[in-house]
Amino acid sequence: MTDAVRRHDPEVRGFASDNWAGVHPEVLEALALANGGHQTSYGTDDYTEALQHVFARHFGERAQVYPVATGTGANVVALQALLPRWGAVITADTAHVNADECGAAEKVGGIKIYPVESPDGKLTPELVDRQSWGRGHEHRAQPLAVSLTQSTEMGTCYSIEEIRALCDHAHDQGMMVHLDGARLANAAAHLGAGLGEITTDAGVDIVSFGGTKNGLMMAEAVVVLTPERIDEITYLRMSSTQLVSKMRFVSVQLEALLAGNLWLRNALHANAMATRLATAAARIEGVRIARPVQSNGVFAVLPPEVAERLRKRFPFHTWDESTGEVRWMCAFDTTPQDVDAFVEALETEMRA
Ligand SMILES: Cc1ncc(COP(=O)(O)O)c(C=O)c1O
Repeated sequence: MTDAVRRHDPEVRGFASDNWAGVHPEVLEALALANGGHQTSYGTDDYTEALQHVFARHFGERAQVYPVATGTGANVVALQALLPRWGAVITADTAHVNADECGAAEKVGGIKIYPVESPDGKLTPELVDRQSWGRGHEHRAQPLAVSLTQSTEMGTCYSIEEIRALCDHAHDQGMMVHLDGARLANAAAHLGAGLGEITTDAGVDIVSFGGTKNGLMMAEAVVVLTPERIDEITYLRMSSTQLVSKMRFVSVQLEALLAGNLWLRNALHANAMATRLATAAARIEGVRIARPVQSNGVFAVLPPEVAERLRKRFPFHTWDESTGEVRWMCAFDTTPQDVDAFVEALETEMRA
């Protein structure tokens, strides 16, 4: 019997973030399976070895997987793998790596970021060109990589054609492509495509693959898709503090997610809950759904005082203080009843 005490109500859920959710029961089962006995540490264990095959099935035979603990860590490792000391990466201004990682890429990776204003969280070849210049000019950090987020921080998705066009454009200019896939599964579910179809086949060089937001716990991975163009990243992972010693527990979670279809079941469900929420909320007078719902997030504009009252019952974040735009995130464990209760409360508060 544990001495730990349950300190929260496991029946209470909100819409603040998909990482407020717990761990999927099948993943907890996998963790128990990997427990007991001794296994070698730092990634030479049997679970991590088996993971190579699991990722190869999704991302192609040449894919190489490096489990890490956080999405920020995955981004920092992946971007360093693409860039020399004088290199820079072009991102949307809203990209997590630019806006929400406390300068980790700059501080830990020594990377220069060139952010470009993007209305919907997406880059286009034209937007990339705003920063893709100054090659050979000694005074300018050299733009040698582009980083996309899929699905984006605004809940939007790139189509496969859009990703391919960006990859072709970047490669034509001698740049490599990183894809921040903290919610890659949600994008694949939305597009009705495989994980490899929207990355490897479209020309992406390296992926930060997200597990935590899709039912895992501290389990993400760097996935190298073009190993012939990317140097050995083993040392980068350790020097960036992302080499987990008991790696079998990270790897077994990723296996539980990807060996079968848990990744897709969870993502389809979270996306469906977001659609249910947006559809119902859009019918309420005074509430405006601000962006296309293409993954598991809903962005809405409503009076700030209503948002204030509502979040006392259902936590969620304000996305933009200046416009009153809020973000409602759904997770693998969001239930239709959660959504309906939230919409009912929203309706009541709008009338109050
Ligand atoms: C798009 C995106 N990338 C990366 C991260 C970073 O993940 P972590 O919080 O595990 O460092 C997040 C987390 O919110 C995210 O939304």
